[in-house]
Amino acid sequence: MELKVDSFRTRVHFDSTIALADGIDAAVVDASIAASAPIHGVDLSGLENRPTLEMQADEPAKQWENVARVLDLLLENGVARDGCLFGVGGGVLCDLAAFAASIYMRGIDCVLMPTTLLAMVDAAFGGKTGMNYGGYKNMVGTFHPARELLIQPDFLRSLPAHELHSGMGEVFKSALLMRGDLWELLRAHGRDLLQADRRDDREWQRVRPMWRDIIEQSLTVKGNIVAADFRESGQRAFLNLGHTYGHAAESVLGFGAVPHGTLVVWGIVRALHLGELLGITPTAYRQQVQDLASEMGYPLQITLPAGHSPEDLITAMRSDKKKRAGRVRFVLQRGPGETELRVVEEQLVLRSLESGVQLAARPATG
Ligand SMILES: NC(=O)c1ccc[n+]([C@@H]2O[C@H](COP(=O)([O-])OP(=O)(O)OC[C@H]3O[C@@H](n4cnc5c(N)ncnc54)[C@H](O)[C@@H]3O)[C@@H](O)[C@H]2O)c1
Repeated sequence: MELKVDSFRTRVHFDSTIALADGIDAAVVDASIAASAPIHGVDLSGLENRPTLEMQADEPAKQWENVARVLDLLLENGVARDGCLFGVGGGVLCDLAAFAASIYMRGIDCVLMPTTLLAMVDAAFGGKTGMNYGGYKNMVGTFHPARELLIQPDFLRSLPAHELHSGMGEVFKSALLMRGDLWELLRAHGRDLLQADRRDDREWQRVRPMWRDIIEQSLTVKGNIVAADFRESGQRAFLNLGHTYGHAAESVLGFGAVPHGTLVVWGIVRALHLGELLGITPTAYRQQVQDLASEMGYPLQITLPAGHSPEDLITAMRSDKKKRAGRVRFVLQRGPGETELRVVEEQLVLRSLESGVQLAARPATG
């Protein structure tokens, strides 16, 4: 599989125990991978003779100090302009490694081995790199697609359930963006995949081929969209389906309180409600999506912290980083694969939140 954009291309390999020693000059590895290695059993021994930096890579780590550590690794080991950095980890590590590779000597090659579901289906693929800056997520970044993407579904065996649910939220989104097999796969196996005991060898062998299929189909959807609009001047914004609501909820609930992908699915159902209010989305389609979300264990309602109201979600949406000419554009759908962007009246957005938001119970008085 290959994503080709402008002069860049990303080759995607499944289950390839890459000849790690070939063509890689340095590596940065998520420390949790080293710790969970016996569970997923992926062989990283080819890295033994390469300068390697192990890094605790969760969201707070996505900052300049860690980019500088990767740059130091490259510089101190004399990696040249034709060098290549290998990154192994979740979305944070992939974003950081690719960002460092993109600015070191004005850009060296990068190979990524994503280890979370979210990184496999989304973060490591498509060319966006980044770090958080000034208190804002992904405020600084570049476009720098990995040269190769190495997908090993076995990493999912050690992933905590909430991280798996979060990644599945992005799969859910991709399933709606393109008419095709992914939606049917999710309907048939989504719930089973989330509930199966991935640590049990037999169970894992049973579900592994389905995971592989789901990851490949998700990459195909994203690849098609990104290849058509690499720098997000048009339809790449469709990938934000559910994210305007999801990001607003993240900001009101507190970052990390509910996994990102869980709020994306909640946001997708809200966006379809909005489309319904506008007469764009058929009720039957919204209902079908809502039913699957619920069946897969995604909440259809969020509870706002005490003292907050749905208006706070609207306020948070106003500062959405993706707005154009000062206006927030909502990603709406007429059906699977039929997507459009619209600026919508805030009053209608508020109505779309009604059945999706609960207020915190007031403390009893007297
Ligand atoms: N560049 C893009 O296009 C793009 C797209 C989507 C998301 N992102 C970014 O991705 C990041 C989120 O990525 P994420 O959801 O992978 O979170 P993450 O990278 O923070 O990983 C979640 C946690 O799981 C651990 N982990 C990683 N692999 C593991 C494994 N196999 N087993 C057990 N633990 C493991 C990590 O150390 C971390 O603590 C965000 O910073 C987001 O901005 C980027």
